[in-house]
Amino acid sequence: MSKKFKVVMVGCGHMAHTWLEYALTRPDTEMMGLVDLNLETARELAARHGLEHLSVFDDLAQALSSTGANLVFDASAPQAHHQITHIALEAGCDVFGEKPMATSILEAQSMVLAAQTTGKTFAVMQNRRYQKPIRALRTLVQDGTIGVPGLVSAEFFIGAHFGGFRDAMDSPLLLDMAIHTFDQARFIVGRDPVSVYCHEYNPTGSWYTGKAAASCIFEFEGGVVFTYNGSWCAEGARTSWDSAWRVVGSQGTAIWNGTDVPYAEVVADLEQEGFLRDSQRVEISLEWQGQDGHYGALDEMFTALLEKRAPETVCTDNIKSMGMVFGAVESARIKRKVHI
Ligand SMILES: NC(=O)c1ccc[n+]([C@@H]2O[C@H](COP(=O)([O-])OP(=O)(O)OC[C@H]3O[C@@H](n4cnc5c(N)ncnc54)[C@H](O)[C@@H]3O)[C@@H](O)[C@H]2O)c1
Repeated sequence: MSKKFKVVMVGCGHMAHTWLEYALTRPDTEMMGLVDLNLETARELAARHGLEHLSVFDDLAQALSSTGANLVFDASAPQAHHQITHIALEAGCDVFGEKPMATSILEAQSMVLAAQTTGKTFAVMQNRRYQKPIRALRTLVQDGTIGVPGLVSAEFFIGAHFGGFRDAMDSPLLLDMAIHTFDQARFIVGRDPVSVYCHEYNPTGSWYTGKAAASCIFEFEGGVVFTYNGSWCAEGARTSWDSAWRVVGSQGTAIWNGTDVPYAEVVADLEQEGFLRDSQRVEISLEWQGQDGHYGALDEMFTALLEKRAPETVCTDNIKSMGMVFGAVESARIKRKVHI
């Protein structure tokens, strides 16, 4: 019997393996073809997963017309996302794409417009939302345990030697990595960004061509401040890829080191007088039952299509996280606070 989702995968490099492995777990999904500028890369991906029978292409439009696919997975390099998304949406396909959605706000806006005009779903991968600890931290912050949140901070320090497209990007940290952290900040506090001041730089000793470090101060709705300090060329004393988080509320603080179970320390007795008030530790349990990372994000995207609703990371939401990235880049360029 014909399967509901007929998928063409574009971009067959490192990340494509995870997307393909996921698709192969779904009984309602059939892989129809693989597309890469480098046909050999597409053939290697097929062979690694025992899919030698799949057709490979170096042109998406041709792949779509030959296979009759109705869903496109886009795990190509960031600079290709704009063109691929337009081709796929305009051919009548839904699109699930890798982060970052685009390489400029104008590209992102035109992709959102294309999704709205065609009536198709365009959702963006933000796998770092789909983990038990961040879901628990979000509940801790949003259920009032620490009172009203006022300050969120994230620290990200990793010395990553990639090679490839990241080494040549102007803003590798902000565009290719901080998009995760900025999206996580919006997710944790449930508020949208208003403004940003950013200093972006390339530290001495960096092996990147572009700027691999940044310090940003965002303001969110309701006056919540989010500070981000990050470097992708920081050797030693590495943080988690999920950053180290502190959320300070009116009655306490939530902590997540990006790896372990988050916890809070809250004022033990709000009536207590004196210089420093005693606090008590609040332990939480990990209750979210979804799959981790890409699998959880893709579960949500497919479920949304089946339920005919917008996925959590639909482009109209994701463009707010992209706005944080491009606002930060612009602020660093003009050396002033920028409204998002
Ligand atoms: N969500 C995550 O945690 C995560 C992790 C790593 C990478 N990514 C993202 O996944 C995407 C791919 O990253 P990667 O590490 O797999 O890169 P990669 O360089 O290994 O693979 C990208 C592939 O896309 C192909 N490509 C480029 N332009 C194309 C076009 N116009 N048409 C067809 N194919 C094209 C390249 O030939 C290459 O094979 C990027 O957007 C990256 O930011 C996400």
